[in-house]
Amino acid sequence: MEAWLLEKLGGLENLHLMETHEPTAGANDVVMDMIYSALNPADRYLAEGQYPARPPLPHILGRDGVGRITAIGGSVRGWKVGDRALIIRGPVGVDQAGTFAQKTLVPAECLAALPTGWTEQECAGASLVYLTAWQALTQWGDLPPSVVLVTGASGGVGVASVQLACALGHTVVAFSRSAEKRERLSEMGANITIDPANTQWRKKLLKLLAGKRVDLVVENIGGAQFSELLDVMAMGGKISVVGRLAGPVPQFNTASLLFRRLRIGGVAAGSFTAAEARAAWQAVLTILARHDDRPKIDSVFNFEQLPQAFERLAAGPMGKVLLKIGRP
Ligand SMILES: NC(=O)c1ccc[n+]([C@@H]2O[C@H](COP(=O)([O-])OP(=O)(O)OC[C@H]3O[C@@H](n4cnc5c(N)ncnc54)[C@H](OP(=O)(O)O)[C@@H]3O)[C@@H](O)[C@H]2O)c1
Repeated sequence: MEAWLLEKLGGLENLHLMETHEPTAGANDVVMDMIYSALNPADRYLAEGQYPARPPLPHILGRDGVGRITAIGGSVRGWKVGDRALIIRGPVGVDQAGTFAQKTLVPAECLAALPTGWTEQECAGASLVYLTAWQALTQWGDLPPSVVLVTGASGGVGVASVQLACALGHTVVAFSRSAEKRERLSEMGANITIDPANTQWRKKLLKLLAGKRVDLVVENIGGAQFSELLDVMAMGGKISVVGRLAGPVPQFNTASLLFRRLRIGGVAAGSFTAAEARAAWQAVLTILARHDDRPKIDSVFNFEQLPQAFERLAAGPMGKVLLKIGRP
């Protein structure tokens, strides 16, 4: 089979499309012919050696995807050859070979059925971002209708967070540097959209909130903007730290947490157990179905175009960037 092999850590330039051996299913695994895979920024971090995982090299990146089962382990129940399935949370693309390949070995506990009515493209990149958004929104316990601010709102996790927060009845503030994407986020249900590059954004937001402040931030960006977020938080406000696309926070005064008793908590979708991930996924599907919402696809690249797909991801997508591996 053909796969994109990461031959050494250092960066995405070490990825090469090559022939490699096909996986064989262990007792609790299946082998899938991949149909679509999805890109995530964590693939780049892993290639750059910035991620804790150190899989054996050469490694195949890619955590998400949808495919058709072609081989099945002896202990696997509930699936048969020919079934289509998507991958939810697990070692695929992290500790074991991932989905940027014609075939992928998947532990059966990481399989989920295609949600009714979703296209294969909608299925391909949904699970990681929705599970992440779900953890970010719910990890602090029940949240009454609140003001939820999503940074990097146009990205994979951002769109998922905006959709779920709107569906949960929150007032949603969505950040994007692009006027066109802010328009799309408003159409998706965001109550307020903000350009974080506008140095006056805090004043503008507080005026629009008319006396309210932000109760929860889903924080995908980090960098210098992180400290600015604290200025618009409400008493007891919480920040779910998901990502750091703008790099480390250059300066942070811990005293800024004191007077409004702000709390900061990390999010790790990979920390869900298989059972927790399945429960969270079911909750997400129920909410999306109730609101007739679907995953948003930014773009689809052919299998040979993985480098171009990563360029698109780095440029700032609107939803998920996919790789078409096989015939739908
Ligand atoms: N903790 C976890 O379990 C977990 C799980 C999944 C992802 N993540 C992390 O969460 C972050 C977001 O992931 P994603 O999949 O949503 O990413 P994404 O699809 O690449 O999108 C992120 C969005 O952020 C904005 N952005 C990108 N670079 C930026 C920069 N330097 N400064 C300001 N804004 C920037 C862009 O929006 P605009 O161009 O519209 O501004 C972009 O559309 C990443 O760091 C990822 O590694 C963590």
